[in-house]
Amino acid sequence: MLLKGKKILLGVTGSIAAYKSAILTRLLIKEGAEVQVIMSTSALDFITPLTLATLSKSAVHHQFHDPKSGVWTNHVDLGLWADLFLVAPISANTLGKFANGICDNLLTATYLSARCPVMVAPAMDLDMYQHPSVRENLNKIKAFGNIILEAETGELASGLSGQGRLMEPEHILEYVISHFSKTEDFKGKKVLITSGPTQEAIDPVRFISNHSSGKMGASLADSFAEEGADVYLVLGPGAVKPVDPKIKIIKVKSAEDMFQACDNLHKQMDICVFAAAVADYAPKHVASEKIKKEGDGMTIELTKNIDIAYTLGKQKSPFQIHVGFALETENEEFHAKTKLQKKNFDLIVLNSMRDAGAGFQHDTNKVRIFTEEGKSLESEVLPKNEIAKIILKEIKNLPVKI
Ligand code: PMT
Repeated sequence: MLLKGKKILLGVTGSIAAYKSAILTRLLIKEGAEVQVIMSTSALDFITPLTLATLSKSAVHHQFHDPKSGVWTNHVDLGLWADLFLVAPISANTLGKFANGICDNLLTATYLSARCPVMVAPAMDLDMYQHPSVRENLNKIKAFGNIILEAETGELASGLSGQGRLMEPEHILEYVISHFSKTEDFKGKKVLITSGPTQEAIDPVRFISNHSSGKMGASLADSFAEEGADVYLVLGPGAVKPVDPKIKIIKVKSAEDMFQACDNLHKQMDICVFAAAVADYAPKHVASEKIKKEGDGMTIELTKNIDIAYTLGKQKSPFQIHVGFALETENEEFHAKTKLQKKNFDLIVLNSMRDAGAGFQHDTNKVRIFTEEGKSLESEVLPKNEIAKIILKEIKNLPVKI
């Protein structure tokens, strides 16, 4: 009964996946939660209030007032009653209303007045899920601090296959349980994270960079912040920002800038995670004016950049933890373990460009983790926020006491 005494408001909206809310309701009740259901009008086309009322052992709300009894359902009370507002499935339509403050039914009114955490599980066809409008709405509510349980990949009602299936009720339950069992294991710990690419100038117009989006670093920053850490994120240009507003962001451009920012902070840090894709080389001479096109080619002499992790690794105290990443294309384990030793990491996270869904730009990653004592583990392809949680768990298991 891991949810005993927890009050969960379950929002159900108009998606073919609405039938799974019956399974989810039963699972939540079995874990001891108190469940009240709010349905959008279009959800009624997919599942009856009677089913959900029976399973939740509570009246189902889907209108502001009951035409028969005239009783008004107070959305504010519902929002205040809940410890968690879970909307599963959330349709593209309701997602758009959440993201834009549209309040035209009981469910959206409750969303705007709820003070508890909000967790949503989208379900829609694959092209809808990838539509820029839907992606933007998901990013908007993520920036509000809402938790998104990304849709899973598989066969869809349309007969197509792709990402858009409602996360399985059993997985949603795991997230709800972990939400309530969230630890504050990193409370009071200072964590430095580097994230994103660096840009090495050629002239005022051109630069050398790489494809890092910063998603991995942002997921790590949010995960540490969620567990109580005081997070400092040194962010390369154009990199994705984390959601948690408490995270201190220091924006940088070049490898040198990134090093200076890290060097200023390093001594006071308990944990340093080097997730940035730092350019190893930079143009030896930066032209003060835009280099004019002459002839068929252009030769640029490059010089080695400072290795941030290596340099700070030499200054690491016995009471600090350093975590590195290795991005490889071949001979992955050998290169990762070499970097683990050479850069004095306590733990290294290997991601290979040869693994589908791993590395740059993806919302997912697939990693192998090696520790200084020779422990190793391998993940499946998972959303980067789940990979981040795996990394944090391995950091907690390190013998170094911070
Ligand atoms: O940002 P995303 O799009 O989400 O992609 C995530 C990622 C692929 C960038 C990330 O998971 C990752 O692998 N980051 C490290 C990429 C990298 O530079 O790996 P590397 O093997 O070249 O470097 C090894 C380690 O030394 C890394 O911890 C790196 O941050 C660090 N390093 C490297 C060079 C340098 N000059 N200074 C450093 O600190």
